[in-house]
Amino acid sequence: MLSSLICVDDIEKKALALMSKPTRDYYQIGSDTEATLRRNLSAFKHLLIRPRCLRNVSQIHIGQSFSIGDVKYEIPCPVGIAPSAFHRLAHDEGEIATVKAASRAKTIMILSSLSTVSMEDVAKASENAHLWFQLYIYRDRNLNRRLVERAYRSGYKAIVLTIDAPPFGRRRELGRHPFKLPPHLEMANFRTEEFQITRIPRSSTGVKQFADNLFDESISWDDLKWLVETSPLPVVVKGVLRGDDALQAVESGAAGIIVSNHGGRQLDFAPSTVEVLPEVVRAVAGRVPVFLDGGVRTGNDIFKALALGVDMVFVGRPALWGLVVGGSDGVARVLDILQMELEYALKLSGHTSIEEIRKSKDLVVSKEYFMSKL
Ligand code: FNR
Ligand code: LAC
Repeated sequence: MLSSLICVDDIEKKALALMSKPTRDYYQIGSDTEATLRRNLSAFKHLLIRPRCLRNVSQIHIGQSFSIGDVKYEIPCPVGIAPSAFHRLAHDEGEIATVKAASRAKTIMILSSLSTVSMEDVAKASENAHLWFQLYIYRDRNLNRRLVERAYRSGYKAIVLTIDAPPFGRRRELGRHPFKLPPHLEMANFRTEEFQITRIPRSSTGVKQFADNLFDESISWDDLKWLVETSPLPVVVKGVLRGDDALQAVESGAAGIIVSNHGGRQLDFAPSTVEVLPEVVRAVAGRVPVFLDGGVRTGNDIFKALALGVDMVFVGRPALWGLVVGGSDGVARVLDILQMELEYALKLSGHTSIEEIRKSKDLVVSKEYFMSKL
């Protein structure tokens, strides 16, 4: 059945038909008018690839290597899994299924703080995945300390600090019908001790209520510096959309940058991630790896992001759709499709490696490029 789904759009369509309305709304939604959500997709479509011909593409290599702190990564295909909450809404195995697929692909999976399987159990189920743990800065710093310590002890290799959510974004349909976890699921990283620290009721399974209680609107660059100083793991910053912020993150000790607008779920009318990528790559100037998520749905999208300087991309919703249609095999199918499409993009554009793509000048251009030369 999965083999008849031949692109991520097919998997999305199938998943939409299978999900309950509350799950579909929660997964698909963007903030306010959803301008940024749409722009993440349309910006990739505004970019063209100028192919080169007759360049012997019989042998290609799409592996990527980079370091985060002291850890060197060799990733066979530069696509990883972005953090998203509540995988057990999509499939009974939840984050266990996701980490199995990430293990098969030997790629990075960023586990959300709001996972429905605990970070310890996900780590136990991981064979070859590289695990990073996503953190919000919570009001009570002891809670952050405790989560970071648990991630470190269970083998996670980096902390991903989400910085685009001082408050939780406004999502209209979820305002009309507040999203709550069904009673058989829980925020598995929050146990009795965590609930004691936060003093919020264990019954806060409404995601907005939970975020409103815990997220700290006073977060500032000092908190990033604090986390960098106190965390035994390197800190990757997620949610940067400007060159100057990227620079400040690096100067504050970030070991990597994820260009992200939270899949269009936070500030509406924020730019798409791929359009700000060149500015961020220029500002960071190779000091730390730069990653991107938001709107990646095809191998050509990945090719474009790589040509504009990312080290790797991450997918959010496509992994959730994969889970819905086929659990671990469904997520693996999403990753396989993206890998195959990326290989085609390299070959058809006349390139044999990512290094070659990154060196090739004016390879990816905006669709006005040709008209402006007339
Ligand atoms: C997210 N995202 C997210 N980010 C984060 O830092 N912590 C989280 O818990 C979540 N949860 C979450 C849930 C759902 C349902 C979605 C769709 C997204 C944002 C996510 O990491 C990523 O930035 C976007 O999903 C990327 O965009 P695409 O790939 O979904 O277009
Ligand atoms: C979301 C949160 C959990 O985007 O980050 O729904």
